Amino acid sequence: MATKRSVTEASVRGRRVLVRVDFNVPLTPSGAVADDHRIVETLPTLKHLEAAGARTILVSHLGRPDGQRDPKLSLRPVVHRLSGYLGRPVPLADDIVGVHALEAAARLQNGDFLMLENVRFKPGEEANDPGFAAELARLGEVFVQDAFGTCHRAHASTVGVAKRLPTYAGFLVEHEVRELSRLVDAPEHPYVALLGGAKVADKLPLLTSLAGRADAILIGGALAFPFLHAQGADLGGTSVEAGLEEEVTRFLAAAKDAGTKVVLPQDLLYEVEGERDAKHAEVGSPAPPGVARDIGPRTRDLFYLTLAESKTVFWNGPLGLAEDFRFAAGTREVLAGLATVPGFHVAAGGDSARIASDLGVTNAFQYVSTGGGAALEFVQGVALPGLAVIPDA
Ligand code: ADP
Ligand code: 3PG
Ligand code: MG
Repeated sequence: MATKRSVTEASVRGRRVLVRVDFNVPLTPSGAVADDHRIVETLPTLKHLEAAGARTILVSHLGRPDGQRDPKLSLRPVVHRLSGYLGRPVPLADDIVGVHALEAAARLQNGDFLMLENVRFKPGEEANDPGFAAELARLGEVFVQDAFGTCHRAHASTVGVAKRLPTYAGFLVEHEVRELSRLVDAPEHPYVALLGGAKVADKLPLLTSLAGRADAILIGGALAFPFLHAQGADLGGTSVEAGLEEEVTRFLAAAKDAGTKVVLPQDLLYEVEGERDAKHAEVGSPAPPGVARDIGPRTRDLFYLTLAESKTVFWNGPLGLAEDFRFAAGTREVLAGLATVPGFHVAAGGDSARIASDLGVTNAFQYVSTGGGAALEFVQGVALPGLAVIPDA
């Protein structure tokens, strides 16, 4: 993908710079920031703007409040964490685009920061309402897009404002585009995709786009169940997403035609009610009375053999219910093996990045994207509306 016009090109001294960030971070049950990777990765852009004398106004969403105020989705805990990193208090404008926000923006001095409250409290945000986009744009004189994780959404704060203000890419966006492009433009072969996770229907477009581009696709997690089911495997009491048989069969045929090898689990670990330990079973033999939760040891070895031959790896989706230590071994062992393989390895996905970090295996990756859905679309070669509106360099 072409390089985007960089924030380093923008003249920002003394000007109000609206910065879209993706601070949609996981929260603990008590409402504190559970993982601040997305906050930390915006600091290069924010510190650059501070040093350059900009008056920075931050915009983000948190969760999906659907156009209504929800105190549980306030950006207050996020702004608290951010203030710590910037070493100065960042005020939060509760009314988003109201008079208080306008006044606070007008009062900013060079190098100051202001954050707007959750932009999805406003119905005009997701609707990309022209009136709301104009109100947001009125707060700034320059727009910097640094919310890579939201660039697949055509919303007021990603696309609407970019059409109304001179727009530049922040460092996080530049970095994501540069690294993820290496998977799209000319990946070094063998290129292997390691995929898992839960929602199969969501991942089918990704699988389809990789047929013919990747040399091998290794499928674990609940993602594998519809494939095994379509092949007639007994999965015991495991729930399998229904109605996917045709699509799954079509994908397998397309991959075969394109010369992409698809590797499915050959053994699984089951959770059986009333039993503490996982039960092991080969795929193809009768399943125990329980639900499949992880790939088995033979499958781990099988996946590793293909990964060991690779030069490029893309990983999304845990290979089992990795939040439960009994079913984390598949993900942990395969990624620990991957860490010993030279090459360019990328991880993407909200749950995946968190789980890799919890399992202590982020060292398997040269790059961990801050994007979930946005990264998956980018890797498929889909044009993201939030990137398309940034002029090329
Ligand atoms: P990401 O957000 O990284 O794209 P997904 O949302 O697709 O990942 O999937 C993450 C979830 O899938 C995790 O919570 C994980 O526990 C779950 N998962 C993966 N395999 C299984 C399985 N066999 N049974 C139950 N849950 C699973
Ligand atoms: C994400 O976490 O993937 C982004 O922040 C986008 O959130 P959304 O899926 O609610 O639009
Ligand atoms: Mg997820």
